[in-house]
Amino acid sequence: MQKAKGVRDIFGIELNKMERIRSVFLSICKSYNANYIELPLLEPKELFERSVGDSSDIVQKEMFEIKSDNEALVLRPEGTASIVRAMRENLNEIKLPAKLSYYGAMFRKERPQKGRYRQFYQCGIEYIGEAGFGPEIESLLIIKKTLEALGVNQYEIQINYLGNIEERSQYKESLVSYFKENLNSLSEDSQRRLSLNPLRILDSKDEKDIKICQNAPSNEAFLTELTKKSLDSFYNLLTSLDIKVTKNSKLVRGLDYYTGIVFEIIDTSNKLGSQSAIGGGGRYDGLVNDNKISTEGGFGFALGVDRLMLILDDGQKTSSIDLALITTTAEGLIILNNLRDSLVNEYKIDVNYNIESSFKKKFKRADALNAKNVLILGGDEIAGSFFKIKNLTTGIETKFDNVKLNSFSETVKEYLNNQIKEGIND
Ligand code: HAM
Repeated sequence: MQKAKGVRDIFGIELNKMERIRSVFLSICKSYNANYIELPLLEPKELFERSVGDSSDIVQKEMFEIKSDNEALVLRPEGTASIVRAMRENLNEIKLPAKLSYYGAMFRKERPQKGRYRQFYQCGIEYIGEAGFGPEIESLLIIKKTLEALGVNQYEIQINYLGNIEERSQYKESLVSYFKENLNSLSEDSQRRLSLNPLRILDSKDEKDIKICQNAPSNEAFLTELTKKSLDSFYNLLTSLDIKVTKNSKLVRGLDYYTGIVFEIIDTSNKLGSQSAIGGGGRYDGLVNDNKISTEGGFGFALGVDRLMLILDDGQKTSSIDLALITTTAEGLIILNNLRDSLVNEYKIDVNYNIESSFKKKFKRADALNAKNVLILGGDEIAGSFFKIKNLTTGIETKFDNVKLNSFSETVKEYLNNQIKEGIND
């Protein structure tokens, strides 16, 4: 039996990358005082139908449904709807405004390809109950810091303003009447979308739609003077904070809950092929207001962990072992077990607890573990009060004579620290 379509086993270098992304992201979140929340993988189907929206691909065809006795459950396709639900259910415990970070697997029944999986991972933050552009600015700073810490520097932030709830609905009306005039020139998909979510037609990739969209009304005309003024100061602030964005008036994003600012992070290194979005987000005031959580709305974003993994360099040797400890005697094993305990807080140590196998086999194992050094303490060593360390990068073996076999951890530390100073293993 093989694995299911669109999922994968993640281990070795790939797992290192994944753990690195998780820890970098969550530690930056912590430094911005976001509180981590662990959300269920199973949610009621209706949650996403109501929030992500009927016109979205997610609801129309991508959810993995699990039929339980009397409820329709799905494997969560995204995190925002779950956070809004969790807020509504825990208003007594989670104070507003809330800033919640999350990390975990999401599931969408999409056609698998490079950078697109059926089980994939997102990390993100949701701000609930905070109006204004504060969450937008902080999120872009957090994303910038995260990508910088991961060494990802070829990307573009595309941004658009969809209008507040009123502006958006007026804009929607004008789009509907424009598209109705051109109904027969639209693709079948877009004709269907017209009644569900006309804004989505703007980001259609179909040639027919692209042509019609060229002359579609722009949303600028529907923005109030107040909105225009605060948008200007928002964009100016981004420039002052050295956050470069590219305005894209056709960016609407595929989920129905968005109002206000929406954005996407696009990889420009060409490492991702057609799946170049490494993250996205936006404001969803309606969702928060409709659920009677706050009148201040919500904003958030999610980064695609799998796509970041494809961009990160392979050259991580983070799992390599600083020192492998080997012996062939029971007495040696007790000494090495103690030595391990006194070194393990500062270095990556492996003890081979199998004393039966030959030294040759033990060296092979140390090599497979990517060990930098091997400490040898055999019967001869114990009898002669000495031990040896072989550096596997240089091949040089060092002998340490006249040692007290129960207290030589300082000597080993000195040896390892010298290596770090001299950059021998780099
Ligand atoms: P999304 O754009 O659907 O937004 O997903 C965010 C990111 O998840 C994408 O930019 C992409 O990197 C990654 N992603 C999505 N689908 C897949 C897939 N099938 N395989 C691999 N990676 C994928 C959301 O999900 C919103 N909840 C984001 C948000 C948070 N908006 C407001 N708050």
